[in-house]
Amino acid sequence: MPKTFYVTTPIYYVNDAPHIGHAYTTIAADVIARFRRLMGDKVFFLTGTDEHGQKIERVALASGERPIELADRVVLRFKGLWDKLNIMNDDFIRTTEERHIKAVLELFQRVFDRGDIYLGEYEDWYCVFDETFLTETQLVVRSDSLQGERACPDCGRPVEKLKEESYFFRLSKYQDPLLEFYDSNPDFVQPSFRRNEVINFVKGGLRDLSISRTSFSWGIPIYFHSTQTADEMLDNLRGKNPSEAKQHVIYVWFDALTNYLTAAGFPDDSERFNEIWPADIHLVGKDILRFHSVYWPAFLISAGLTPPHKVFAHGWWTVEGEKMSKSKGNVVDPYAIIDEFGADVLRFFLLREVPFGLDGDFSRNALIGRINGDLANGLGNLVSRSLGMIEKYSGGKVPKPGSFEPFDLSVREKALATARQVEEAINEIAFHKALGAIWDFIATVNKYVDESAPWALEKAGKRERLDTVLWTLVESIRVITLLVYPFIPKSAEEIWERIGIPQPIESQPLSNAKNWGLLKPGLKILKGESLFPRYVVK
Ligand code: MSP
Repeated sequence: MPKTFYVTTPIYYVNDAPHIGHAYTTIAADVIARFRRLMGDKVFFLTGTDEHGQKIERVALASGERPIELADRVVLRFKGLWDKLNIMNDDFIRTTEERHIKAVLELFQRVFDRGDIYLGEYEDWYCVFDETFLTETQLVVRSDSLQGERACPDCGRPVEKLKEESYFFRLSKYQDPLLEFYDSNPDFVQPSFRRNEVINFVKGGLRDLSISRTSFSWGIPIYFHSTQTADEMLDNLRGKNPSEAKQHVIYVWFDALTNYLTAAGFPDDSERFNEIWPADIHLVGKDILRFHSVYWPAFLISAGLTPPHKVFAHGWWTVEGEKMSKSKGNVVDPYAIIDEFGADVLRFFLLREVPFGLDGDFSRNALIGRINGDLANGLGNLVSRSLGMIEKYSGGKVPKPGSFEPFDLSVREKALATARQVEEAINEIAFHKALGAIWDFIATVNKYVDESAPWALEKAGKRERLDTVLWTLVESIRVITLLVYPFIPKSAEEIWERIGIPQPIESQPLSNAKNWGLLKPGLKILKGESLFPRYVVK
């Protein structure tokens, strides 16, 4: 059986509502999943929520809720957003689900059985916001603090000193195995400049990682026995054998990373697991690359499991040139953007504006610029003028083309080249390249309209030539629509309906975009309303 293509997003913390950073990764994963389905792969696309840990416990306490109540409430904001954005995930995992708790305990057990877990004491710093352990030397001095208070180097928030009993994972033992792994899997970390960062980090030395906490309780408790199976641990967890309890909960990152195994059927459904695992690609933000490219493969190698094929780290969005933060009050709410501009506009903007992997800036002007330029003047205009001319000059039906001239054939060549470039770009996870190629083709076809001037052909009574041009236009639109579908699915469905092809767009293999000449004369065309209205900047 061919392997299922497995793509994941990070699982999002439920301490707060989703923002455009979360939407970004999920849209990117959705686009990959949709392309893969069109390429003929069986796809498993996973997203979900990260619901344990000290941060969630504290935020819940502060709002007078139990952590699970907070999670139950906020998870709906994420699920609702994915619906609105037309995200087609195949599963949604919550780390508080029983299937997951069982998987985490089993992974913990396997790592323990390998001899890689020991009891010790953690004495150092911790950033609750990032749920990350820090050494003294990693800390930075807060710029706004007169006392020289020290802060987390990543998020800039105050850090806390910990001193507590903890189970440790022998990460130090995995320095060489990890370096060998990166060496034999050169594509594991992408983009490649990130790969170098990861390798340098590991070469710098790895200290053992604390993987349990005792000073709070919102997590998966370890009822720890070298001989216990995950089922026995679960029984203990349900309180059947509470006397065995020690006061440790599993470190939230050990817990969270395991979600990728849980949803693949680990540990019980080995048939499914073998079909899905290893993941083909974990999409993550640059801030959580270390967890995915160092800790995660180390846990997996220790447990005798295969690491994922690829971890791709994207950049971060600033807003109008500034870091997005609650205190600045500039967090962009994706719900509001969708209500104002539509889901496809947000999907398009985020992937078109910035090369995937680099940082980018979200601004209203840039968004409106893309709507007016690429969507209204580019794609929208091409569709409405072409279909309008079919209504006007061809009785609303796709005409039968006559003989093709070199100009028509150059459009065909460009269409075929565009389809190839898009496929290559998607394989490289370079959405901006894919969209750049499609919009280049759209510009070519708009130019083809201007230069072949169907209105003049009509006037001059050159019927056969007119039919060839009109057919070439709709055929180009067919190819463009197939290629943009994974990015802007609702708009593509709408265009597809207007060009009258009876088979639904989602049933079209991507190879149909590389196949020129599939458009049948006689299809009924509908011009319809403007697809992307222009916005006036106020
Ligand atoms: N729960 C962990 C992930 C566990 S995965 C096993 C977590 N959650 S998060 O909700 O804080 O962040 C999720 C993702 O959002 C990260 O990939 C992060 O990079 C991304 N973003 C958060 N702010 C962002 C921007 N301003 N811009 C782009 N992405 C950003 O980390």
